[in-house]
Amino acid sequence: MMRYKPEELTKLPRSVQFKSGKVILIDQLLLPREFKLVEIGSVREVARAIKTLQVRGAPAIGATAAYGLALLAEKSRAKNKDEFFDEFFEAYDVLKKTRPTAVNLFWALNRVKNLVEEHREDSLDEIRSLIVGEAHKIADEDVEANLRMGHFGAEILPEGNVLTHCNAGSLATVHLGTVGAVLRVMQKEGKLNLLWVDETRPVLQGARLSAWEYNYDGIPLKLISDNMAGFVMQQGKVDAIIVGADRIVANGDFANKIGTYSLAVLAKEHGIPFFTVAPLSTIDMSLKSGKEIPIEERPKEEILTCGGCRIAPDVDVYNPAFDVTPHKYLTGIITDRGVVYPPFERNLKKLLKV
Ligand code: MRU
Repeated sequence: MMRYKPEELTKLPRSVQFKSGKVILIDQLLLPREFKLVEIGSVREVARAIKTLQVRGAPAIGATAAYGLALLAEKSRAKNKDEFFDEFFEAYDVLKKTRPTAVNLFWALNRVKNLVEEHREDSLDEIRSLIVGEAHKIADEDVEANLRMGHFGAEILPEGNVLTHCNAGSLATVHLGTVGAVLRVMQKEGKLNLLWVDETRPVLQGARLSAWEYNYDGIPLKLISDNMAGFVMQQGKVDAIIVGADRIVANGDFANKIGTYSLAVLAKEHGIPFFTVAPLSTIDMSLKSGKEIPIEERPKEEILTCGGCRIAPDVDVYNPAFDVTPHKYLTGIITDRGVVYPPFERNLKKLLKV
């Protein structure tokens, strides 16, 4: 079923790597002006990179946080297990507090923490290498999941023009992307005519990151400002909309970049299929409805400025980084285990066997 390997789908390197005691990230604050890898050597710096959006996108945040713990495991000078556990749980707490909405962060951190707790009785050296190994597994599994989503998505999406919002591409994951993988497989198979990229104010992940990475891989695209999406749909120029997700809950409601909800409502009005693409690590069955998802509010400067230029007087702002799209607007959820259709509550349970 997997017709392509990652290296056949993108020229980009992995966005999140871990080599010789360093977390290596593509610096997403510098794009599209400059492509640069940054090397990070401490848990505090990893936390800062996540908070400041130097690395962003739900799966990328999860993998980076796991590598943050791997960094600690390799570098800690703890003389005994008690000292090490104190440092480990402190690092876990620091990383956990970085961003609240994307559940992949907590999923990845808890995966490493649970493993450490299961192996509490092992030697310190064994525990250190288990942590590093688990972080690598999280990253590798993300790439495999994206590859599977790419193939599942490309099979069911109509041929033609696709619109996307924010960046759920390779940069937002370890490699390939969720939406990014679907687009790349579609492109390979001649199914993608044109990609519409929403610029995605206020932080411009669409303009700065999606436009950059898809252009880099030769995907034909047109960049639009967010307020143009409705008109483009009305003109019959969009055949499907695919977006990522930061958290999908038990009834199928999901949080994604602010502006996703408006697109979903517009898609329904125009009869355009609307999908979210996300790995199982983005599904949070502990929450029943989207109303329970914590939504991050970000600094006012993101609204008051654009590309470093002040564009408004110093007034009060409201800056929610995400919104929640009710499941009634969703055509389906493309996961790494297949595509889930309504009724979402029942079918998500079936998929996850809970
Ligand atoms: O604030 P960001 O840039 O981290 O928000 C990213 C998104 O909303 C993405 O669509 C989502 O994380 C999915 S990434 C595969």
